[in-house]
Amino acid sequence: MTTTSDPATPAPCPAASARADRFLRACRREPVDATPVWFMRQAGRSLPAYRAIRQRASLLEITADSALCTQVTLQPVVQLGVDAAILFADITSPLPGMGVPLEIREGVGPVIDPPVDTLAAIRALRPFDAEEAVSPLLEAIRLIRRESPVPLIGFAGAPFTLASYLITGRSSRDAEGIKSLMRTEPQTFDALLSRLVDTTIAYVHAQVGAGVQAVQLFDSWVGTLSPFDYERSVLPHMRRLFAGIEPRGVPLIHFGTGSAGLLALQAEAGGDVIGLDWRIALDDGWSRVPDRAVQGNLDPTALLGPWSGVEEQARWVLAQARGRAGHIFNLGHGVLPATDPDHLRRLVDLVHEETAR
Ligand code: CP3
Repeated sequence: MTTTSDPATPAPCPAASARADRFLRACRREPVDATPVWFMRQAGRSLPAYRAIRQRASLLEITADSALCTQVTLQPVVQLGVDAAILFADITSPLPGMGVPLEIREGVGPVIDPPVDTLAAIRALRPFDAEEAVSPLLEAIRLIRRESPVPLIGFAGAPFTLASYLITGRSSRDAEGIKSLMRTEPQTFDALLSRLVDTTIAYVHAQVGAGVQAVQLFDSWVGTLSPFDYERSVLPHMRRLFAGIEPRGVPLIHFGTGSAGLLALQAEAGGDVIGLDWRIALDDGWSRVPDRAVQGNLDPTALLGPWSGVEEQARWVLAQARGRAGHIFNLGHGVLPATDPDHLRRLVDLVHEETAR
C-alpha cells in the first residue's frame, strides 16, 4: 500500500519536499531540482528580527534558552527562504563546558580571560560532557527538527581556530600567539589541540544524537598557515577529528578562510563538502578537490553594493559550477552585519531560478 493513495495522508507538496531535500542531496553529489543555498552567519545581526531579540538577550543568553535559540535559528529559514538552517550558537559555545571563562563582547567577539596558554592550564581543563555543558542547545536541536522545513546543520570550530582564541584570549588577525606556541612549545600546542579534538568529537556526537543532519567545521584562522605547517602540525589533529565523527554518517562540511593553498590537504583531512572562500575562483578551487562537493563562494562584500553587482557576481559563481552535481551556493565567509536582508532574499531566488532543472 502506498501512502499517497490514502486520502488521510495527502502527497507532500512537491515544492516543499524538493526544498527539504536539495541541500543534503547536493552534499552527497546527487542531482538536485535547483542548487541549494544557505549563508554562513545567516541568523546574525543583518536581520532586524535578530537585533530586536538582542535588545533583551545576549548571545550567551540566547544559546542558553532553547526556545529563543530555536526562534533565532529559524528566522532566516522563514525570512530568506534558504535551503538549510544552521544552529544558532558560536564556535566558542563548548568552551565553558571545559571550564574556560567565556564572554562575548559587543563589537569584539569572544574574550577568554585568563587565556589558556600554559601546559598547566591545559591540563586543568575539564573533560567535556555535552549533556551537562550544552543541554539547552541539544534541546534546541530537537525543537528545530520538529519545526524546520529544511535540514539543520550543526557546527563546531576546528581545533587550530579554537586554540588561537584560547591562547590569546581573543581574535588575533595573524594568529601570531598560536603560531608562536606551535614553534616554541610544540608539546603544549599538541596537548591543546588534542584536548580540543576530544571535546569537538564529543560535542559533534551530541549534536548528531540530538538531530543535526549535517555538520560544518569552521577553520576560520587556518589560512594563516603554510602548507608545511598545516601538514606537519594541524593535519594529524584534523584527521583524528574527522575519523572520530565520520562514523555518524552525516555529511561533513570542511570550511576554512584564506586557505586556497591548503585545499588539497584540507580535503585529505576529511569532509564530504569543501567550503571555499572568495579568494579563489570556484572552478579552480573545485579542481583541487575533484572528488568532493563544494560550497561557496560569493564575496560577502558584494552584498554591500547595488543589486546589479550582486547579480553579476552570483551568476559568475554559478557559471563556474556549470550545473555540476555537488554545488551548494553560499558566501565565501559569513554575512556581514551591514548586509541588506532584501539582497539576501533576492539572491536566494536568483540561485534557485538560474539553476532550476
Ligand atoms: O547563522 C549563523 O551562522 C549564526 C551562528 C554563528 C555565530 N557564530 C553566532 C554569532 C556561527 C556559525 C558562528 C561561527 C563563528 N564564531 C566563527 C566561524 C565563522 C567565522 O566567522 O569565521 C568564528 C570565528 C566565531 C567567533 C566569533 N563570535 C566572532 C569573531 C564574533 C564577533 C564578530 C561578529 O560576527 O559579531 C562572535 C560573536 C557572534 N557569534 C555573534 C553572532 C551572531 C555576534 C554577537 C552579537 O549578536 O552581538
